Amino acid sequence: MTVLITGGAGYIGSITTRLIRASGRGVVVLDTLENGHRKAVGDAPFVQGDIADSDLIARVVAEHGVDEVVHFAAYKAVGESMSNPGKYFNNNVTGSQKLFEALHQAGVTRVVFSSTAAVYGTPQSVPVRETDALSCESVYAETKLMIEKTLGWYSQTTDMRNVCLRYFNAAGASDDSTLGEDWRFSQNLIPHVMKAVLGFAPALTVFGNDFPTPDGTGVRDYIHVEDLARAHVAALDYLAKGGHSITCNVGTGHGTSVMDIIATTERVTGKKVPYEIAGRRAGDPSECYADPRRINETFGWSPTRSLDDIISSAYAWHTSHPHGHDS
Ligand code: UD1
Repeated sequence: MTVLITGGAGYIGSITTRLIRASGRGVVVLDTLENGHRKAVGDAPFVQGDIADSDLIARVVAEHGVDEVVHFAAYKAVGESMSNPGKYFNNNVTGSQKLFEALHQAGVTRVVFSSTAAVYGTPQSVPVRETDALSCESVYAETKLMIEKTLGWYSQTTDMRNVCLRYFNAAGASDDSTLGEDWRFSQNLIPHVMKAVLGFAPALTVFGNDFPTPDGTGVRDYIHVEDLARAHVAALDYLAKGGHSITCNVGTGHGTSVMDIIATTERVTGKKVPYEIAGRRAGDPSECYADPRRINETFGWSPTRSLDDIISSAYAWHTSHPHGHDS
């Protein structure tokens, strides 16, 4: 079996690509390299190009004998999606629609899609279940939901089946510290904590300590990127065995506050995290963590890594790669 991995040169895509290969499948990575990095692909078969290029998709599917797809390629900066919505609708939504149609025309019927917990917006209650109300609070989130819905219609009207994985907060780095997130381009908490603890930033800014949470800071569900990668392999196996289309949360089911992350980082690294408290970031919910029962019951997947593993792997990666893959 050969898997086309769009966006396989990015943070989650590259770590998942490696695990899919280790699981015994062939791969071909498609990435524009606008945000991904060639080095992250290593010696995996690679094609530089766009998901919206239908002729290219047809050629890649035929030449590589593609029968499964994992679709990561998308823009993902929430703030930018609000200032430049057209860029997000065009690339994420229109691009994905063109990809799915090209796959359908080529006879590819199994797609795993990289969705997000951002489709829940501010949850009405936690832990969040897949059947809970959806409330996109950014253009970015809306584009991911539109892609889920597009796949849903392909599933109803054609023989294409899909698994939509709604990621909670992907964090950490590959076990061997060679693949990880580039803090120069990330808005997320853990890269910023690492920047501060390693002295590449004067201090971490904590966005609000007046939330209605135990310590006042935001609570999230941090999922180790290696565990997240395993969820994709489980989803491919599920579809290969004939599983019907399904949407699953990918999280641990545990809420962790910003202060918990700081305390864990200090314990694991033995270093102080300089930080300052600032006002809340616009659009941040106080609390969001997953109910992961569905993915556990359907795929038998559950996380194997702890918060300590997330922090120690992130620390090892950022220490050796302060300039990401350009280090
Ligand atoms: C963000 C995106 C979400 C996306 C996810 C993964 C928003 C509103 N949501 O989720 O759509 O799917 O990243 O890419 O942007 N924090 C700080 N200081 C920082 C950075 C973050 O205190 O410098 C806090 C935040 O307020 C939040 C927590 O840390 O409470 C996690 O933030 P972050 O890593 O940005 O993830 P989310 O906002 O949950």
